[in-house]
Amino acid sequence: MSKTILEAHDIHKSYTTPVGFLHVLRGVDLEVREAEIVAVVGPSGVGKSTLLHILGALDRPTKGCLWMDSIDVFSLSDDGLARFRNRTIGFVFQFHHLLPEFSALENVMMPALIAGRKPQEVVGQARELLARVGLEGRESHKPAELSGGELQRVAVVRSLINDPRIVLADEPSGNLDSANSLALHELIWDLSSSLKKSFVIATHNLELAAKADRIIKLADGKAMSG
Ligand SMILES: Nc1ncnc2c1ncn2[C@@H]1O[C@H](COP(=O)(O)OP(=O)(O)OP(=O)(O)O)[C@@H](O)[C@H]1O
Ligand SMILES: [Mg+2]
Repeated sequence: MSKTILEAHDIHKSYTTPVGFLHVLRGVDLEVREAEIVAVVGPSGVGKSTLLHILGALDRPTKGCLWMDSIDVFSLSDDGLARFRNRTIGFVFQFHHLLPEFSALENVMMPALIAGRKPQEVVGQARELLARVGLEGRESHKPAELSGGELQRVAVVRSLINDPRIVLADEPSGNLDSANSLALHELIWDLSSSLKKSFVIATHNLELAAKADRIIKLADGKAMSG
């Protein structure tokens, strides 16, 4: 059996809002193995994005811990957490979050430059990744000059530039029509198996979830394997 790369234990997350206390996650346990695709499903508002933000160390839980490759993630300082995130985790969001003033190539290179790598060391890898997802010839296009499906493919490639251990994708095809969704899903599966990458995908798309190695259902603040 493949190696466990991420383990979340007893994750709780609450928010204090003007209308009261909101206990969204109430003891989530979860593990992800190498090269595994895990789908996180559940109704709107159940806490899928909240969980992904915690798994990606974008947010700290109210209680609970996260281990990744033997690192106790939330024991890190905020600066340590930012460095860890940049090197270890890739993110894909529903809306691509590409920077509008930069080209597709520059957007893909950006996380590597933030990690301190030199442009000349990164550019070849970025071109290769773009070509791999059928975007050869689109490198100099700005986001406004790309289709919805192409934008999401750029976003997926960008998430891989630092060779992360895991990619967290929040509704990656939520904004696409069915043909483009299917193409994006095929691409994610292909990249996961060829690059041996783990993906955790929050989705309302049950077709996508059904293809995952494992489905985690969130309900009442807890995760159940389905
Ligand atoms: N920063 C915040 N402050 C207060 N409440 C929040 C905050 N972020 C999320 N929530 C609340 O936490 C709950 C879970 O939100 P979350 O975005 O994780 O749901 P979700 O399962 O991703 O939903 P969707 O499928 O609609 O994307 C919601 O009730 C939301 O209103
Ligand atoms: Mg969400």
